[in-house]
Amino acid sequence: MKTKIFCDIADYKTIKFFNKKNIVDGFTTNPSLMRLAGAKNYKNYSIKILKICKKKPISFEVFADNPGDMLKQAYKINKWGKNVYVKIPVVNSKGVFMGKVIKELSAKKIKLNITAVYTFEQVKKIIKCLNKNSKSIISIFAGRMADKGKDPMPIFKKSITKTKKYNNIEILWASTREPYNFLQAKKIKCNIITMPPSIIEKISSFGKSYKDLTIDTVKGFLNDSQKSKFKI
Ligand code: G3P
Repeated sequence: MKTKIFCDIADYKTIKFFNKKNIVDGFTTNPSLMRLAGAKNYKNYSIKILKICKKKPISFEVFADNPGDMLKQAYKINKWGKNVYVKIPVVNSKGVFMGKVIKELSAKKIKLNITAVYTFEQVKKIIKCLNKNSKSIISIFAGRMADKGKDPMPIFKKSITKTKKYNNIEILWASTREPYNFLQAKKIKCNIITMPPSIIEKISSFGKSYKDLTIDTVKGFLNDSQKSKFKI
């Protein structure tokens, strides 16, 4: 079983670049990444991306904060392309579970990426709302969890075990902090990991020997001491 690599980015040029690379199987965006990419018009910007990324799955997130408007946005986003996954936050900003939204969209076979997930209880509630014949992703935020001193491994292991029997539900390792997270995700047979371009580049150079690592490290220190003309 392969752990697919998605690129966590909304920047047009970067998507264009990685869309041609075999290492990347898909893309994930969110409103913060869209803002970072300089998107002014959410729809136009997304459609511009979809003109160059027509096959690989790509997630675009709703940003409404109430179920009614979330549904309206989701139906519109879904129409933008066949490879689009509509990203729905597991709760709104008030902490209310968006189960009704998830249930309605999934029943209509709209591909979903349920995001901002942090607990196994949330995963179980999401699974109950999902149409098992429709494609869905559940995005668990490993890095943001680890940043706050919480171990992401137990929730991933439990969620992967729980979803194993559902071919259409994939667990996604989101909020990747370092290249080693890819090996962790692979070890537990996580379906997908999404990561920023800088980490994808580092993964491409996996396999460097310990000998080369130690020489490169020492060379780096030597170069800097020479550049600074250090003397004792
Ligand atoms: O796209 C969702 C997730 O991967 C965000 O990661 O780095 O903002 O915690 P990050």
